[in-house]
Amino acid sequence: MNAQEGQTETTQVQHPLRVAIIGGGGHVGLPFGLALCDCGHTVTLVDLNEAQLDTIRSGQMPFQEINADQLLPRVLESGRLHCSTSFTALSEQDVIIVTIGTPVDEYLDPSLRAFDQVMEDVFQHCRPGQLLIIRSTVFPGVTQRLGRLVAERDLQIDVSYCPERIAQGRALLELTQLPQLVSGCTPQAAQRAASFFSDFGQEVIELSPVEAELGKLFTNSYRYINFAISNQFYMLAQRYEADFDRIYHAITYKYPRMNGFARAGFAGGPCLLKDTMQLASFNHNLLTLGQTAMAVNEGLPGFIVERLKKNHDLTGLTVGILGMGFKGNCDDPRSSLSYKLRKVLTLECRRVLCTDPFIDSSDFVSLETIQQESDILILGACHDEYRSLQTTKPLIDVFGFTTRQEP
Ligand SMILES: NC(=O)c1ccc[n+]([C@@H]2O[C@H](COP(=O)([O-])OP(=O)(O)OC[C@H]3O[C@@H](n4cnc5c(N)ncnc54)[C@H](O)[C@@H]3O)[C@@H](O)[C@H]2O)c1
Repeated sequence: MNAQEGQTETTQVQHPLRVAIIGGGGHVGLPFGLALCDCGHTVTLVDLNEAQLDTIRSGQMPFQEINADQLLPRVLESGRLHCSTSFTALSEQDVIIVTIGTPVDEYLDPSLRAFDQVMEDVFQHCRPGQLLIIRSTVFPGVTQRLGRLVAERDLQIDVSYCPERIAQGRALLELTQLPQLVSGCTPQAAQRAASFFSDFGQEVIELSPVEAELGKLFTNSYRYINFAISNQFYMLAQRYEADFDRIYHAITYKYPRMNGFARAGFAGGPCLLKDTMQLASFNHNLLTLGQTAMAVNEGLPGFIVERLKKNHDLTGLTVGILGMGFKGNCDDPRSSLSYKLRKVLTLECRRVLCTDPFIDSSDFVSLETIQQESDILILGACHDEYRSLQTTKPLIDVFGFTTRQEP
């Protein structure tokens, strides 16, 4: 769907509120803030990244988001969008939403420190009667723990967890379309969170906090494991010198039971692996399917290079990677497997070249240069401009993106 097709009608909320979004300059917080503002709420984006906020204040989107380039200037014009690096504005709000990153640490365990620090800052500045909505992906038990802390300190705020489920870059298209999973530490918190999202035009499904936390983690782990199934089958097909894409087409064609079968390809990005590991880690590493999926998905770049080495002496060759974003038509390099591929290739090849139309990097080259100077090309991200690429060089395309018939 292109930006124009995706333009959504905005309904105005019945109860305009003052809303602060902590992490509001990020990939989840910013589009959510724009959408809330567009339907009548007054929104303060609270973020430590001053440069990012300056970009937003100037009317420029700091990253790609369908329809946001038009929406941002409009909501700035309305006077209802504010940006701040300080938490002091929190006390003036009706609703506080948290969308900061929730990474895993170097041992693949959930990293708590930044989240706890933000909560401490919220506790310092909140006032009784506010609704706190955790929107970041958190591991099971975090919301109830927060609820206990709030009760112990007698802060008299309502704590809820309502996970974000949009696909990055498509938030403005999906926010009002996706049903919202809503939970609260008390019935009142759940009810207020449900009203907030229904007023915004969303269908609401109420769960307990731990169910909502698991629901979000199951969603991402399921997708991650699903990609691993296809990547494993791809590797098996290669072992037989069989064409995975032909098999893919044959077994999915007019066969609805295979509807969920994913394409092979890089399963990178900031969420899927991280959330699978959150789920595994806090369950005594019992999510063996998730850990196996990690071995398969993270092993794909190495597999590609091993296959190449069978037919080529890479030590004398230049290999070019087309697309460094973590997925197609995306400008986000976070946890992109194209970078892992570059690392593996660097050990094996004479030279590795990289290109990406959406990511500025001093060591990337143009599409023209990479085509001229590479002996072999490897597709790293399915950007539209590579779909009908004309090249005389061998092109390794695990995704089947350049050869498949249907869009
Ligand atoms: N990216 C997605 O598509 C997506 C989708 C669903 C859920 N999520 C979840 O949403 C959360 C945020 O992800 P994201 O991709 O938006 O991350 P992001 O890194 O793009 O955004 C996080 C923002 O928080 C800010 N920040 C960090 N610490 C802060 C602090 N102490 N105070 C104020 N601001 C602070 C950062 O500067 C950044 O702008 C994560 O839990 C992620 O798993 C992400």
